[in-house]
Amino acid sequence: MYEFKIEAADTETMYDDLTSALAGIVAGEPDAIANMANAAALIWETLPDLNWAGFYRNVGGELVLGPFQGRPACIRIPFGQGVCGAAAATLEVQRVHDVNAFPGHIACDAASASELVVPIVGADGALIAVLDLDSPTPARFD
Ligand code: SME
Repeated sequence: MYEFKIEAADTETMYDDLTSALAGIVAGEPDAIANMANAAALIWETLPDLNWAGFYRNVGGELVLGPFQGRPACIRIPFGQGVCGAAAATLEVQRVHDVNAFPGHIACDAASASELVVPIVGADGALIAVLDLDSPTPARFD
């Protein structure tokens, strides 16, 4: 059993603790799906005010739903579509304060108000996956 309850007093310490816990939980495990599953669970347990946290994997040039926490979500997202697809196409972090103002936003959960999508790139520069965090609070992500 893993016990990674993170209850830091301030945000910086929380992110430090989360980073350490993530590094610890993936250490020595080469299976990407297993690592994404534990990472999604750890992020979900630690960060306040999320309604979805998880991964879309790059499978042959298309984003395919990976391990996540939250409500069931759309399964396939083409590069360039929605917030996740924008992150995949540009390899740039997408921080969206108001998802309803984002052209082509894909509403998997009507409760989502803001969103952060981080591309995960391998040593060869190719996209492996995107990490997608959704919040019911506008401008949740600073
Ligand atoms: N809203 C995302 C789709 C994924 S769900 O939020 C889980 C988007 O526009 O890419």
